[in-house]
Amino acid sequence: MRLLLGPLRRSLFLRVFVISSITAIAVISSIGSNLYSRLSDGIIEEKINSSIAEGSAAIQYANYRFIIGSVTNSTSPLKLAEEVVQSTNITAQESGRETILFSVNGKVEQGIPAEMSSNDLEPLSVPNSLRNDVRTHDGIKWSRGTLTYLNGEQIEGIFIGQTIDIPRVGQYEIYVAYGFQAQSKTIDLIRNAMWGAGLLLIIILMMMATFVLRSIIRRVRAAAEIAEKLTSGELQQRMEEKGEDELARLGTAFNEMASTLASQITRLENLSKVQQRFVSDVSHELRTPLTTIRMAADVIHNARAEFDPNVARSAELLLSQIDRFEALLADLLEVSRFDANVASVTMKEVDVSEIVRKVSDELANLAAEKGSPIRLQLPTEAITIDGDQPRLERILRNLITNAIDHAEQLPIDISVASNESDVSVSVRDYGVGLTEQQMSQVFDRFWRADPSRSRLRGGTGLGLAIAKDDAALHGGIIKVWGEIGKGSNFVLSIPRVHGAQLSSTPLSEIPN
Ligand SMILES: Nc1ncnc2c1ncn2[C@@H]1O[C@H](COP(=O)(O)OP(=O)(O)OP(=O)(O)O)[C@@H](O)[C@H]1O
Ligand SMILES: [Mg+2]
Repeated sequence: MRLLLGPLRRSLFLRVFVISSITAIAVISSIGSNLYSRLSDGIIEEKINSSIAEGSAAIQYANYRFIIGSVTNSTSPLKLAEEVVQSTNITAQESGRETILFSVNGKVEQGIPAEMSSNDLEPLSVPNSLRNDVRTHDGIKWSRGTLTYLNGEQIEGIFIGQTIDIPRVGQYEIYVAYGFQAQSKTIDLIRNAMWGAGLLLIIILMMMATFVLRSIIRRVRAAAEIAEKLTSGELQQRMEEKGEDELARLGTAFNEMASTLASQITRLENLSKVQQRFVSDVSHELRTPLTTIRMAADVIHNARAEFDPNVARSAELLLSQIDRFEALLADLLEVSRFDANVASVTMKEVDVSEIVRKVSDELANLAAEKGSPIRLQLPTEAITIDGDQPRLERILRNLITNAIDHAEQLPIDISVASNESDVSVSVRDYGVGLTEQQMSQVFDRFWRADPSRSRLRGGTGLGLAIAKDDAALHGGIIKVWGEIGKGSNFVLSIPRVHGAQLSSTPLSEIPN
């Protein structure tokens, strides 16, 4: 059953086809059988009526024959009886009739046998119920029954009977029987014709359903294919708009939707390009005045010993804020380079462990100040990969600074692991941690979990966004795990050969 339902659920064509075929077969066969039974009943009824009329006349005639015979007295009663019984030489098998004569008291009278029948018909074919009826009632009685011949042949038919008096002999039952053969033949003919017509009708209906469905489904399928192409970014794809029917309207509406979508996307793309240009231009424009300010601030800073302590403090603040400004500007310029797709990498053979060691050493003092010692777990042998040293350093610098910022005086574990194709570096802290929601946002530009705290330290929320792009330039990814109060784990994984796909992550972000 499931084997059958699967394809039905998947294919609209199959479903409609099966349903319409079943309905057509059910409707046609019920109409057919109804019509057939009415027709056959009508034909048999007609035959019964004519047989009763004809049979009554034949019985009447036989009655007269016996009376006239007895009056003229020219023929013996046996001869008369034989003449009456054999009055028809066309058997019921050949659409003629049969005659049966029974003596009511069951005895041979004046040579007339107790039972006589025409054309080798078995006299006992006459149904017993009819015989009882005839014997106990006056007038003509009839009943359906089977005519059985001495040679074993049987045909369906009707018996009509009455009791008659043969003068000077006694009371007899006389029956006339007719077969339904001709009618059966007609009915068979009708049945065969109806079967043929019904079958032909069903085949024609199925062919029409196939044709109509095919033409509809072909266009629906085309629409689905085009929608898929649109989804995958081929915005210039359009549907065929042929005719004036519902499908043509679907095509028109679909194409209008696609055009609106395409123009919206182009508009948004342009807008975002303008914004990117704006950020890039502003950043560049700010560089020159910032250099001048920096030089002036350096001069003021160097001369601060001569100033009043309040002014000297301001000079220090000025310099530290200019440092932040410069860092932010550098980040912004980097981000605009990523957006403009002009970020370039210079791949060289580098040792990942070496880079990790170098960056950790640089940050060791900061870590010590914050009370979070950095613990390294490095493999003994060198792990050489194709990489851009400054970018890899920048990624790690940001991950480790972030860990120091959030470690809450607990140690930071950095491990490196590799296999023949890929390498992973994990930076794990045991501090504040991250919620599910925060994990999904850490790589967003300018996103910070707690903006007020970071502002004090100077974070801009661009660090991880840049790190992610840097990793992508290496064909790699950064995965994150975090739990509030238990700390976070950031794992950078990159393929060892430049241009290769990342096939595994030697370290998992989920700690065990
Ligand atoms: N190890 C960590 N534990 C908890 N939160 C973290 C961790 N690393 C990053 N975050 C959260 O993610 C935010 C974004 O980090 P990101 O490095 O992008 O920016 P930042 O460190 O605030 O600023 P920047 O790196 O640009 O100086 C951080 O402000 C912090 O809220
Ligand atoms: Mg950071």
